[in-house]
Amino acid sequence: MSALETARGWLQQARRLCVLTGAGMSAESGVPTFRDALGGLWARYDPQQLATEAGFRADPQLVWDWYAARREGVARAEPNAGHRALADWQARHPGRLSLVTQNVDDLHQRAGSSDVICLHGALFANRWLDACRHLPAGAEAEDTRRAEPGRPPRCGVCGNLVRPGVVWFGEALPGQALQAAEDAAGDCDLMLVVGTAGAVYPAAGLPALARQAQARVVIINPAPSELDGLAHLVIRAKAAEALPPLLA
Ligand code: APR
Repeated sequence: MSALETARGWLQQARRLCVLTGAGMSAESGVPTFRDALGGLWARYDPQQLATEAGFRADPQLVWDWYAARREGVARAEPNAGHRALADWQARHPGRLSLVTQNVDDLHQRAGSSDVICLHGALFANRWLDACRHLPAGAEAEDTRRAEPGRPPRCGVCGNLVRPGVVWFGEALPGQALQAAEDAAGDCDLMLVVGTAGAVYPAAGLPALARQAQARVVIINPAPSELDGLAHLVIRAKAAEALPPLLA
């Protein structure tokens, strides 16, 4: 029996499915994986330098422009057959799928997936860099509508900068999202790990939680990943190739 047929059998038996996706999920939509940077004029920069608070404070315009370029790339991209297969399965099986993503693009959401657990924030979200005493009372750090336009936008009174609402290296993940992801990993019977190198924690620790909870773990990735040793099954394929037949 093929790996795909085995995984399909496990899916039929599963009560609850948890799916963890990484940058490879969006590769067939033409969105460069994080480490691919953006090529072109960005090729000379190290994403690990740009995607940090220190990098942003050191050169706010450079980092802001890098995110603006990534936003333009994602806006031009379309969800692929893998994104759609996940959204369709979720719609056919209400309440049985928890989708956890490390990606900051909005392709799962644009494909129709709901309640997506976004561990690393959202590319199109903004928030204030520092606490701003000029914020209207009670306004959220995410409410940057008042900012003066710019690269980056900033507070017209004190110059507080607006930053992308993503999790940068060295920053804590949003607590609620991480808790929801850990709950989903611990409660599922089957975890699909799609398109991630499994190199960045705590996201990469979720498959181990699923295994501890006696769930089966299936990896979908055209290349080896750091999580392969943890998987019951590895499907050496691309997300948009494997997910539609698996979830049909
Ligand atoms: N289908 C499935 N997987 C793919 C595909 C594809 N078409 N193309 C590439 N991949 C796999 C690669 O083999 C690799 O294992 O996707 C993975 C991409 O790895 P990374 O670029 O390291 O992305 P990811 O694992 O999501 O990184 C995790 O680290 O870079 C930070 O915050 C960033 O969320 C990111 C996190």
